[in-house]
Amino acid sequence: MSTLIVVGAQWGDEGKGKVVDAVAAQADLVARYAGGNNAGHTLVVEGRKVITHLVPSGCLYPGTRCVLGAGMVIDPDVLAAEIAGLQAFGLLQQDELRVSLHAHVIFGFHRELDGMREEAAAKGPRAIGTTRRGIGPAYEAKAARRGIQVRDLFDRATLRARLEQNRDALAPELGRADAISVDALMEAAAGWAAYLEPMVCDASALCHGAIRAGQRVLFEGAQGALLDLDHGTYPYVTSSNTTAGGVCTGIGVGPTAIDAVWGISKAYATRVGAGPFPSRIDGEIGQRLRDVGGEYGATTGRPRDCGWLDLPALRYAARLSGMTGLCITKLDVLAALGHAEVCVAYADGVDPGRDGLFGARPVNRVIEGFDDPQLAVQLASARSWDALPACARAYLDLVAEAVEVPIALVSVGAERDQTIFVRHPFE
Ligand code: GDP
Ligand code: IMO
Ligand code: MG
Repeated sequence: MSTLIVVGAQWGDEGKGKVVDAVAAQADLVARYAGGNNAGHTLVVEGRKVITHLVPSGCLYPGTRCVLGAGMVIDPDVLAAEIAGLQAFGLLQQDELRVSLHAHVIFGFHRELDGMREEAAAKGPRAIGTTRRGIGPAYEAKAARRGIQVRDLFDRATLRARLEQNRDALAPELGRADAISVDALMEAAAGWAAYLEPMVCDASALCHGAIRAGQRVLFEGAQGALLDLDHGTYPYVTSSNTTAGGVCTGIGVGPTAIDAVWGISKAYATRVGAGPFPSRIDGEIGQRLRDVGGEYGATTGRPRDCGWLDLPALRYAARLSGMTGLCITKLDVLAALGHAEVCVAYADGVDPGRDGLFGARPVNRVIEGFDDPQLAVQLASARSWDALPACARAYLDLVAEAVEVPIALVSVGAERDQTIFVRHPFE
């Protein structure tokens, strides 16, 4: 086996960055396939914290190549700042990062539209609670066939015509005929083109070549299954396909190239932004979970809503991505509460796929043994499946059985070494 997809199985922030960093030690190439800098992936190595937004989380390993795929939307200024930040740490040589010529570019007017719409919706039912990074408007332009691809930055005539098309299409909503200054953007784009020129590539061919050469390729998801544009809690979703299918379209590889899919889930659940969250916990326990788990957004700093692990939703996510392994993170955090529950079903037989999650009422069960005050400390120091306390193994077995996917990895802390591989990622 040489290819593995790592996807979020909830509403994002499951710990994909940490898992990708752990797995990337054994990978030759790490590729992002969807989303943009709405993502915030946290890596912690010997107390040092790195947050990636666009650059794949394999970037900490010298020699591991990273690529941004066609399915992504890229804000060039954010990318340049992120690369500079990583290089200041002595990480990520320029020749280790490649950018697809087919990826779409986020412009300032996309960010402006995103922010304007959120302001207009305020906290009413139409507010999505986006990250305001311009993600939705950039994907909207792509679907409307007036998006600007990285390749267009190198073709001045096409770029000018496309910018004029956007200026005309968006002027009514932006409220001014000249809200998009084509000349100013042409100038900015010339700078981006010069900066990106050594990095641009055919990402599909790059990944295809690596796979054919028998190299190990890791596809890194952003966001999570329930934020998927087609299968998530629409309209409270992001504007891309976050599930494993997004790899094929977002990179340009066929389904036959994929060997395994690992889904990442916390031992509990979180959500940031609006939309249904059946297992949400209000009140004091929810606040404790947020504090103990540090549940504040890596991109926007917003407090995340917290809840119990939702097994019907996780089972649905496993189906959507054809998961072959489950990675459960933050077990140490759940254990620190002194009391833990898990949602095992929804009342009235509500089914997440058929009925959606709106109005679903959780049926919870208490997790045995999680009232032990020593449990969190024992978990944090466990380094093998056998070293996990019996009640933790029983909880993981229950999850695997309910979802019908075996446990592949258990994470018991934010540090790289607090990772228990139950399965080999590439065997
Ligand atoms: P991502 O977007 O899926 O990469 O996740 P984020 O980085 O946004 O959020 C996950 C947070 O949990 C980060 O702060 C990680 O450092 C942290 N984390 C990941 N795994 C564990 C774990 O097993 N235990 C603890 N305590 N923290 C973890
Ligand atoms: P990572 O990769 C958590 C959420 C936003 C909002 C919705 C749409 O770190 O897991 P967008 O800006 O994408 O148009 O916002 O999606 N969202 C995330 N939530 N983690 C993320 O990324 C997210 N990316 C977007 O909060 O509800
Ligand atoms: Mg995140």
